[in-house]
Amino acid sequence: MLKKISFTVNGKEVSLEVNPGETLLEVLRKRLGYTGVKKGCAVGECGACTVLIDGTPTDSCIYLAVWADGKEIITIEGIAEDGKLSKVQEAFVEEGAVQCGFCTPGLVLTTTAMVQSGKKYTREEIKRELSGHFCRCTGYQNIIKAVEKSLED
Ligand code: FES
Ligand code: FES
Repeated sequence: MLKKISFTVNGKEVSLEVNPGETLLEVLRKRLGYTGVKKGCAVGECGACTVLIDGTPTDSCIYLAVWADGKEIITIEGIAEDGKLSKVQEAFVEEGAVQCGFCTPGLVLTTTAMVQSGKKYTREEIKRELSGHFCRCTGYQNIIKAVEKSLED
C-alpha cells in the first residue's frame, strides 16, 4: 500500500506517495532527480549515498523513504552557497581530494556536518568520522587534508 509522505530536499518541499519498501536513495535519485546521491554498495557499507537528514550524515540506501516524512534532507546539490562552491567543496578541490568523484558527495556532506557541529577534531577523530566512506582512488591522505582545511577557522 502506498503511503503519502512530505519532506524538504535542499529547502524545497516535496510530497509524494512511496512504497513501504522504497529507500530514500531510490526516491531521491529516480523520482526526484538528485543524481548527486550515488549508489555504490546499496548495503550501508561505502557511504556513497550519504545525505544529511536533519543535519546527520545518513546512508540513504538503507533508510526507508517513509522514515523521511517530516524531515529535512540535504543532498550535494544543496551545498553550494549563492551559486559558489562551499568552503568544504573548495577545500576538496584545493587539496586534490577528488579523482573520479564517486565518493565525493558523501564525503563533502559528512565533512559539512563536522564543520556545522563546531567541534575540534584530531586527525584520528577525523579518520573515525570518515570510516564509513570508501574511496577507491585517492588513498585518503588528500581527503583528510581537505577535511582539516575545512575545519580551520
Ligand atoms: S550505497 Fe549506501 S552505503 Fe554504499
Ligand atoms: S575519488 Fe574515486 S572513489 Fe573516491
